[in-house]
Amino acid sequence: MNTHDVAARRVIALGVNVDHVATVRQARRGRHPDPVHAALVAEQSGADSITMHLREDRRHIQDRDLFALQGLMQTHLNFEMAVTDEMVRIALELKPADCCLVPEKREEITTEGGLDVRAGMAAVRDATQTLVRAGIRVSLFIDPEESQLEAAVEAGAQAVELHTGRYAEASGGQRAVELRRLVRAAHTGAEMGLRVNAGHGLDYHNVRPVAAIPEIVELNIGHAIVARSMFSGMAAAVREMKALMLAAR
Ligand code: PXP
Repeated sequence: MNTHDVAARRVIALGVNVDHVATVRQARRGRHPDPVHAALVAEQSGADSITMHLREDRRHIQDRDLFALQGLMQTHLNFEMAVTDEMVRIALELKPADCCLVPEKREEITTEGGLDVRAGMAAVRDATQTLVRAGIRVSLFIDPEESQLEAAVEAGAQAVELHTGRYAEASGGQRAVELRRLVRAAHTGAEMGLRVNAGHGLDYHNVRPVAAIPEIVELNIGHAIVARSMFSGMAAAVREMKALMLAAR
């Protein structure tokens, strides 16, 4: 490991997902609270990137939110999207820095499992390569399994986001088992040359062991930060999460 690697491993980036600010707005189909406003405050408070997931049913983020944010933001946009022709077309128009490809089911409350890259190889590879050709860095949201990491490389992705949902939901000894899976997958992914991000279900109580995994470059966190922002404000909620993550390195 050279000096640069050592320095890089001491920092970890925080991507803030502002979807649930839009969830509150959509409860009244009005103008506020505005996820773009939330994103700009998050950026000023230590967020390194902003994630928006444009779902097929448009239940929270709307197309115009993405384009408005892209024109105003100072960090970079991570566009979370399903592997569909419609979303690929929007991504090519939007040109975010990053796209994170996720599985999507209409009836789910939130993204459930990781993308089965192996089973959906043809479609995932097509979408990935189209986006990469347009200069977008593509990340695949996968369960922390070696076969999915191998499939991500095969599909041409530069990055993966390891699904931390099972870790977040586990308790007792099972949580340690899930953490070990994440540690192993982060190590293997980095050895394969992938940028390794992680996220889903992380909060102020469970984030530290994941933030401590040296190969993880970025954590994407939404619900916990938006929930806390209701009581302490977005700026404090982001600052506190970022401080916890950095303290874990
Ligand atoms: N990463 C991905 C790929 C997701 O789908 C989500 C949820 O939208 C998150 C991270 C953030 O999860 P949470 O809202 O539980 O922090």
